[in-house]
Amino acid sequence: MPELDFQFKDIMQMEHPELILKKARPFMDLMMEYQCALMEVETKLNVLNEEFAAKYQRNPFESIKSRIKEPLSIINKMKRKGFELSVESMEKNLFDIAGIRVICSFCDDIYAIASMLTGQDDIILVDVKDYIKNPKPNGYRSLHLILDIPIFLSSGKKHMKVEVQFRTIAMDFWASLEHKVKYKKDVEHSEEIVAELKECADVISAMDCRMQEIRNKIEGKA
Ligand code: GTP
Ligand code: MG
Repeated sequence: MPELDFQFKDIMQMEHPELILKKARPFMDLMMEYQCALMEVETKLNVLNEEFAAKYQRNPFESIKSRIKEPLSIINKMKRKGFELSVESMEKNLFDIAGIRVICSFCDDIYAIASMLTGQDDIILVDVKDYIKNPKPNGYRSLHLILDIPIFLSSGKKHMKVEVQFRTIAMDFWASLEHKVKYKKDVEHSEEIVAELKECADVISAMDCRMQEIRNKIEGKA
């Protein structure tokens, strides 16, 4: 990739730096709006976590992490998918600019929390990819939801898209390591490596089910 011989101080030293900054304004405003949408969804998840803890004396979440996609990743994805490169097109076509990953203790908790969240009357469920019921061929498991959620700005209500990924600790363990293995080397993997990773995913998934069954037995559900 060509290195840009260009630094922020170069913009500041230009005759009219405000013109460049003005051009970037719509992009920065949209990023701020995605940040607000993340805050809304995180608050909703935290409320459910508090209530769950009060009702059942345990927290269903191990962790919640959120991120806004990096500007360069946004541009690369738009180019890869052949979308027009504009702020409007970004908002229209990309649904994972704001993303939240929720790590749950048990598989049942994923569906319980996902259904409580999507049942809230200000949330519209745009898309569901259930890679737990239908794992990817490589063994990847997670529940992905695309939500449409309103944020309230001084100018009024605005609908934003947020991607929420739900996983158990076990699913996250596999996905994190697989990501590291996969992205470290930019090469096609041999059939043997693909099969090994898939086998690991299946072993981990079987363990997840057993832990759920043990919990069900202790709670007298099975
Ligand atoms: P992209 O958003 O362009 O990736 O395409 P998509 O919307 O069809 O993808 P999908 O919803 O299936 O997956 C989106 C996200 O899920 C990725 O950015 C990853 O965070 C995660 N993911 C999906 N598949 C895998 C996988 O095989 N391994 C790992 N480690 N993560 C995955
Ligand atoms: Mg996606």
